[in-house]
Amino acid sequence: MFKTVKDINLSGKRVLLRTDYNVPLVDGKIADDYRIRQSLPTIEYILKNGPASLIIIAHLGRPKGKPDKALSLSPVAKRLAQLLGRPVGFAPQCTGDAVKELVAKLSSDGILLLENLRFRAGEETNDPDFAKAIVAATSAEIFVQDGFGVVHRAHASTQAITKILPSVGGLLLEKEVETIVGVMNKPARPLVAVVGGAKISDKIDVLNKFIELADCVAVTGALANNFLAGQGVRIGKSLIDPDAGAEASEIWHRAQAEEQKRPFNFLVPVDVVVSKSLDGRSPTRIVDIASHSLADIEAYPKLPKPDSYSVRADELILDIGPISAAEIVGAIKIARTVVWAGTCGVTETKGIAGGADPFAHGSKTVAEAMIGQSNSHKNKPFSVVGGGDSVRYISSEGWLDDFNHVSTGGSASLDLMAGKKLPGIEALLDK
Ligand code: ADP
Ligand code: 3PG
Ligand code: MG
Repeated sequence: MFKTVKDINLSGKRVLLRTDYNVPLVDGKIADDYRIRQSLPTIEYILKNGPASLIIIAHLGRPKGKPDKALSLSPVAKRLAQLLGRPVGFAPQCTGDAVKELVAKLSSDGILLLENLRFRAGEETNDPDFAKAIVAATSAEIFVQDGFGVVHRAHASTQAITKILPSVGGLLLEKEVETIVGVMNKPARPLVAVVGGAKISDKIDVLNKFIELADCVAVTGALANNFLAGQGVRIGKSLIDPDAGAEASEIWHRAQAEEQKRPFNFLVPVDVVVSKSLDGRSPTRIVDIASHSLADIEAYPKLPKPDSYSVRADELILDIGPISAAEIVGAIKIARTVVWAGTCGVTETKGIAGGADPFAHGSKTVAEAMIGQSNSHKNKPFSVVGGGDSVRYISSEGWLDDFNHVSTGGSASLDLMAGKKLPGIEALLDK
């Protein structure tokens, strides 16, 4: 484990803090400030310990080494000031004399946020000279890494800088790593993993890890389309990774082998929600791929029409169906730990005229089962959510506080779950 702010003396020191303020912006406004709020405990801890000054560095978006007004961190400085209830200065650069002057004027309880690191090419190229220039402009003596969402990158602010300054982790980084690694190393069982999202290629390592580790793995989202297609199910125009066919069938074989070895369940959707477009304006229908019960409900149990158990050529699968969701809920009800990574469907599509979001039912059902709203779930499982879009969905429903751990990391949390070493963590001082 790495050293944290609790393991060093901050008193009288100039502290440089890296955070992940890569927040979603809509029309130039911060659409979700979860990452900013999650950085507050470390900031407050540092300030309480009497540093000479506190300077914060961060990135926003992917400006590719060039300044871009639309990706300025200045709105973040304002929001941070509101949340902390104290002024936060903003430097329109991240190196140079302008920064030096602002640092010189900073009082011991003052905070200065520097402009987007990614306006400079040296950030992403992990350039030691860029890291030196930041240290020179800020006169920093200690580096604190708390940008969990970005520690899977080897950038100047995650790696090169740690070669110059004594570097420790912040409280958010510590919480993220302890929780995620704790769940992966010693989960309370049964452990259920719900893995979804857009691309199977992003999730292959995590899927393999959970097949080895969990008691039940449910695949959902567009990711599941790869498994359905591999089974010969027609999926129309649904999103699929065209190059991942072999990998999907390998994963499935591994899962089946695991099912033979021990009590383990690999759930692939048995029904799906389809539509001709994902804008939510075309009619939707449920296709019962396994044709067990949904087909021709009114005439049940008449032989279902082929149409009811096949996706048409012009349709897309946009969510898991109610039977698949119910199967996952059944697993979650007996779980003591549930990890959810990747939405079960296209949660972004809004319902018409304030109606229910047409492709969010699967994600909603899973989330409610995890936090115990859909039943009298007295023994709620320990619930962990990772992945940018999944967290955005939970946040939009106002459920952030209902889960035990909602990670601020996207790829960083997936890499950590998969057991990979993250460069920004490896670079910190060992305990
Ligand atoms: P996360 O960011 O939580 O890790 P991903 O980025 O992997 O998740 O996937 C989330 C995206 O997957 C969302 O944009 C969602 O619209 C998309 N998605 C989920 N299910 C489907 C589907 N059936 N078809 C197309 N896109 C899907
Ligand atoms: C994130 O949003 O996942 C992190 O801030 C990292 O951003 P990046 O994927 O652009 O490196
Ligand atoms: Mg995503």
